Amino acid sequence: MNETVCITGASRGLGLELARLFYARSYRVFPVVRSSAAAEALLREMPDCRPIMADVADDNCTAVINGALSGQAESLDLLINNAGISGTADGLEQVTTNEVGELFNVHGLGIIRTVQGALPMLERSARPRIINISSRLASLTKTAAGEFNHGGFTYSYRMAKAAQNMLTLCLHQELSERGVHVSAVHPGKILAGCASHDANLTPGEAAERIFEWCRTAGPHNSGQFVEAGAGILPW
Ligand SMILES: NC(=O)c1ccc[n+]([C@@H]2O[C@H](COP(=O)([O-])OP(=O)(O)OC[C@H]3O[C@@H](n4cnc5c(N)ncnc54)[C@H](OP(=O)(O)O)[C@@H]3O)[C@@H](O)[C@H]2O)c1
Repeated sequence: MNETVCITGASRGLGLELARLFYARSYRVFPVVRSSAAAEALLREMPDCRPIMADVADDNCTAVINGALSGQAESLDLLINNAGISGTADGLEQVTTNEVGELFNVHGLGIIRTVQGALPMLERSARPRIINISSRLASLTKTAAGEFNHGGFTYSYRMAKAAQNMLTLCLHQELSERGVHVSAVHPGKILAGCASHDANLTPGEAAERIFEWCRTAGPHNSGQFVEAGAGILPW
């Protein structure tokens, strides 16, 4: 039977390309989007996909995702937590606690909500995998080495993605015992909404690399932080 995948943030950017790629490879695709216009656009292009309308920043999304998956599938093989937003303030004088809170809510709490909603269905899969789309900017090791000192990167995005990586490790430590693979994947520097100034990959190219990681993901490489197509990153 074809595998089932749920992808958050599938209205545009990397998430849309992932939905297109998995759909083209005959997966049953559950794209999570925030608007009916986005759901309708997906259905026009991919008539057999099953859009879920949910905002990962809202606690309600847990029940919505759970209900949509359990009502329409036997199990879930892959949950790709891709939804994300970027910050605007790159210096201490500019950053606001409101912006930091907003990014923590989407990149961190959003994944707690989607995993809580999807886990019962993941546990029915023979090969369950949770892939959290992270960023090289989440790396404490790289940050401490000064790699991102002059990129104009925001406090909010770097803090939220680092917290998301900690969540990935916590989930790995709890869920690998229950047979669920959990990993953090930096997709590369993509020409999409969360792009950095040095972006060089199309969303389609990045999606191909992530697809390959999802294909090979299993118990043996759970708990890793990788750059898709390139190798292991330091936490
Ligand atoms: N671009 C890069 O170079 C890069 C590098 C490293 C990591 N990443 C990560 O890759 C992921 C995708 O980035 P991207 O560049 O493709 O971003 P993007 O083009 O801005 O797309 C972001 C997607 O997330 C959705 N989203 C945002 N907030 C949401 C919420 N509260 N609930 C549900 N969906 C929400 C958006 O939906 P709407 O259309 O409704 O706004 C959109 O579909 C992000 O996690 C980002 O941090 C990107």
